[in-house]
Amino acid sequence: MPERRFGEHLDGSADSSGSRDANQPSKDEVDISVPNPARIYDYGLGGDHNFASDREAFHKLLEVDPDSRTVVRSNRAFLRRAVRFCLERGITQFLDLGSGVPTVGNVHDAAHEMNPDARVVYVDNEPIAAAHTRRLLQDQPHTAIIQEDLRDPEAVLNAPETADLLDFSQPVGLMMAAVLHWVGDDVTELLARYRRALGPGSALAISHLTDEDLPEQMREVEAIFADTSVPVTYRPRSQAPELITGFDIVEPGAVYCSEWRSEPHESLAQPERTKIWAAVGIKS
Ligand SMILES: C[S@@+](CC[C@H](N)C(=O)[O-])C[C@H]1O[C@@H](n2cnc3c(N)ncnc32)[C@H](O)[C@@H]1O
Repeated sequence: MPERRFGEHLDGSADSSGSRDANQPSKDEVDISVPNPARIYDYGLGGDHNFASDREAFHKLLEVDPDSRTVVRSNRAFLRRAVRFCLERGITQFLDLGSGVPTVGNVHDAAHEMNPDARVVYVDNEPIAAAHTRRLLQDQPHTAIIQEDLRDPEAVLNAPETADLLDFSQPVGLMMAAVLHWVGDDVTELLARYRRALGPGSALAISHLTDEDLPEQMREVEAIFADTSVPVTYRPRSQAPELITGFDIVEPGAVYCSEWRSEPHESLAQPERTKIWAAVGIKS
């Protein structure tokens, strides 16, 4: 993709706004010199919606963690299994918070394989991820992308796309895969707000980076993310019940993502190599 600089919009136009501080990025401006987790993850998955700074950051990650590709692939594989789990329970609508760049294997791919009528609303605040998702979804029925910060639940829940596609009187699959570790604040109130919007039978799927089994290596990973646009916050598996409060966590509980209802070919001899735990709860 052509590389673009801060101050230039995604449509290629220069910023001519005199009404705001030109040093402050607007919602759809990108500073390509600063790596961003969405695009680092895209590069790790083999996507091409990333810039030199993102690729450089991923190569630094590979130096401290040669399993970095396994980390991102295992997480994406968990997300697909969680979507299928929801569909098997009759959940046909999804709100995917922190949905990322639409590399193959995203939520609507997994959902539409099983149910072409499944509805999916993606939410991401990263302009490149949002722009490419919008383009990709042009021909995809029952899908939409909202470029919003998930920390603003009212903006997400009251968006016209959400109202058009999701019926909150019916169960919804709320997907928060590999995103909460980019939200450093106390997330209790945030999660409670989304939980209140969901009806009985809804699911919450979370996957999350942890440093609990490989603390030294993950300190080095943390240092690399400190130079990106969003620093990382690790949370241990033991915090899963707190994050998933109000939902009954299904078997096998909070486990490394490669262990969560995986097929034999997806499981790893040392699951801690994924550095990401996963859990799914159902609202009673
Ligand atoms: C590592 S990617 C995960 C993508 C996808 N959920 C998956 O698991 O394959 C994390 C995504 O969360 C997005 N993100 C981070 N903080 C966010 C926020 N506050 N609001 C919305 N999206 C956010 C990033 O832009 C990025 O695209």
